[in-house]
Amino acid sequence: MESSALPSPPGLKGPAPERQPAVAAGRARSGLLHSLLVGALLLALSLLLLFWGLPAWGANDPVVLQRGGKLFANHCAGCHVNGGNVIRRNKTLRLQDLLREGVKGPAEVARIAAQGKGQMSGYEKVLGEGGADAVGAWVWRQAELGWPRR
Ligand code: HEC
Repeated sequence: MESSALPSPPGLKGPAPERQPAVAAGRARSGLLHSLLVGALLLALSLLLLFWGLPAWGANDPVVLQRGGKLFANHCAGCHVNGGNVIRRNKTLRLQDLLREGVKGPAEVARIAAQGKGQMSGYEKVLGEGGADAVGAWVWRQAELGWPRR
């Protein structure tokens, strides 16, 4: 009677053997979380390098830009002379028009060059491999510079 009312001594109470596996599980879980976190970080980093490095490379490489400029003269300038648009006057390749139309960078220009948009057809075949990216990089650079006359 009396002994059941007494608090049991700490050593006999069970929390200790129970707590230990809980701590171990907690440690294992935080270890898993840690490696997941590191994995996610590495993945994010490589994706960043992949998607950020490529356009940056294309946009800055003088060889790519030169090729883009030539392709533009041959395949785009007929309608987009000096970055304008002889068919749809408000859909020029000037930065403010591009941004208004949701064209946010060289990759998007490259996509339009290859696949077309609205009244404009795509030029993927005539631009050749990497051509759309090159012309996209060149057009974007011109837009950033305000289409200086050369
Ligand atoms: C035959 C005429 C023609 C040629 C050639 C042409 N485009 Fe276009 N382009 C257009 C027209 C028309 C539009 C407007 C499309 C629409 O939204 O209906 C347009 C739109 C665009 C846009 C979006 C501009 C904006 O403000 O919305 C980009 C970028 C573009 N052209 C890039 C190019 C590139 C790069 C080339 C060369 C590979 C090219 N175009 C060749 C007629 C042409």
